[in-house]
Amino acid sequence: MKPISYLAAPLWAVLLASGAKSFRANPLLGSAWLNRHGLHMARVRLAGHMAKKRRARLAAFVDADDIADYARDGFVLRHNFLPPALFDEIRRDLESHPLRSWERREGATVTRRASLDRPDVDGRPALTAFLDDKRLFDLMRYVAGCGGEPLTHVQTVIAEPDPSRPDPQNTLHMDTFHSTAKAWLYLQDVGPEDGPLLYVPGSHLITPGRLEWEHDLSMRAARDPDPEIAAGSFRIDRDTVARLGYREPLAMTVPANTLVVADTHGFHARCASARPTCRSEIYASLRRNPFLPVTGMHLHTMPGIRGKLSTRQAQIDGLLERFGIRGPWKDVPAKRLVDPPSI
Ligand SMILES: [Fe+2]
Repeated sequence: MKPISYLAAPLWAVLLASGAKSFRANPLLGSAWLNRHGLHMARVRLAGHMAKKRRARLAAFVDADDIADYARDGFVLRHNFLPPALFDEIRRDLESHPLRSWERREGATVTRRASLDRPDVDGRPALTAFLDDKRLFDLMRYVAGCGGEPLTHVQTVIAEPDPSRPDPQNTLHMDTFHSTAKAWLYLQDVGPEDGPLLYVPGSHLITPGRLEWEHDLSMRAARDPDPEIAAGSFRIDRDTVARLGYREPLAMTVPANTLVVADTHGFHARCASARPTCRSEIYASLRRNPFLPVTGMHLHTMPGIRGKLSTRQAQIDGLLERFGIRGPWKDVPAKRLVDPPSI
């Protein structure tokens, strides 16, 4: 740990009651002794309990079919999510007109995110209609088990097959120790060769075996050579998935205009691409403090922030960069869907 990290020491205990997940960055979260005595398990159990209570309150806003699918699988998949005319108009718009964009590289994969902040979609009626449609966002709140405002982008994943530069997203993993929601509305057909999302159905369910597996890993996670595990995003292999009693991972090969909303406490990955691929989707994510008793009061809904999340995030990244803390996302020129990456 860097000496400067000790400046944050008073925060370590406070962060136990937050969504903080890094075993390496927080010596309390990473303590083998505390985790042997149940710290990580207690956080998983309490977060799961609170999510269940909040989810019950959010159920009134989603369809019974969605509730049943989520309960069984941990994700909801809906074909033809948008009216076809609106979907075509959105795609035409994104292919012809650029949006403010940021890119990051992980291995041989470049991910681009383009802003859907309200000022950026001003005068673009199809994108505005999409953002005004509450169905996706209500479903995300239910799956995440929290209220609040998802962060929404147009995302393009440009992947080159290159085993010498592995993409950490290709390994089955859970994002963190509690329910969070990610959503993909696919703008093109996704075939088996297009790096589809892989999800282990039912792996959002915290079985005794799963809890035991997390408990075991939590005692050594801080020193794990895999930085993703040390950061709290546990990796798992297929044999262990089967041993824990979960079903076979399912590849989401779907036609365009399919929506997938998944709880990413469940195990998931991006299938490695066997050939160069370029896949675009409207992508949204929602993650909040998992211990909150309420569904309201989200920072993202405050005046000056609501509808401007990408702008505010870019401003924060810019500020951090002035203090030498570089995030993974790089500013790039405004891009259309079909434009090549800049990094
Ligand atoms: Fe993930």
